Amino acid sequence: MVNKDRYAVVGFPIKHSKSPRIHRLFAEQTGQDIEYTAIELPPGQFHESVKCFFAEGGKGLNCTLPLKELAWQFADVATPRAGFSKAVNTLILQADGHILGDNTDGCGFIRDLTVNHNIALAGARVLILGAGGATRGIIAPILEQNPLLLTIANRTADKARQLAAEFESIGAIDSCGLTALADKEFDFIVNATSASLSNELPPLPDGLLAGQGSCYDLAYANEPTAFVRWGQARQAKHSLDGLGMLVEQAAEAFYLWRGVRPATRPVIDLLNTERQEHAR
Ligand code: ATR
Repeated sequence: MVNKDRYAVVGFPIKHSKSPRIHRLFAEQTGQDIEYTAIELPPGQFHESVKCFFAEGGKGLNCTLPLKELAWQFADVATPRAGFSKAVNTLILQADGHILGDNTDGCGFIRDLTVNHNIALAGARVLILGAGGATRGIIAPILEQNPLLLTIANRTADKARQLAAEFESIGAIDSCGLTALADKEFDFIVNATSASLSNELPPLPDGLLAGQGSCYDLAYANEPTAFVRWGQARQAKHSLDGLGMLVEQAAEAFYLWRGVRPATRPVIDLLNTERQEHAR
């Protein structure tokens, strides 16, 4: 019997990860005969366990919270986009035995926006809420879309300032605290705070979203998140959560590993239908 190529997602916790489901659907759709599992890995065991996984013939890993920075440190070589975000969500065994680290989150986010939802950021006033790891991963991809303005607002204003300064060589970024958002208006607002994970929402002024503007929560859940509901209540043109981004970043990782690009639409539709059924 020929052993299947082995892949996995590692995270802590990992129980609710949709990645095994998504990658198995991709494999079925593209006729790729692979194994993809979920492995719970405390940060302290990351280095040894990941070394073992590859030494025993594993071909690639997805790394999720809170292991993305450790994965970036682990990789022998990192792509420029992983370097910008100082985080790796995909490890790839290369032909020469080296492990390449990439970050497909930013490109998954942009693909979901532009391809799946036809939202253009060119010329738009864009606001990112939060200044942590999730924000770091989307700054460069957003700047590449040529927005009119990019502002990072964070509860701790200093962290927003530091992040803006770190990226100033690739584009102009405004930064401020959340309280300085009164009287400002944006066409596209991204929630990249971890508040969403506990279904909380930082206080936001009512007029923050411009008419015909859209909202995007990087987090996703079976029910609409607090931020998705905030956007809906303010008549956002689109008020989206991160399910599409999740599938798109996975498709990019699958492509890096297998050289085949799966169709994402049927997988997004299926996961959306399933969560609607779950919510009933
Ligand atoms: P991640 O990797 O998910 O971005 P992180 O690096 O811990 O996680 O960053 C979390 C971000 O969410 C931070 O910007 C944090 O704000 P602070 O820098 O002020 O801590 C933000 N955040 C978390 N909970 C929040 C809340 N309840 N209200 C506003 N911002 C919050």
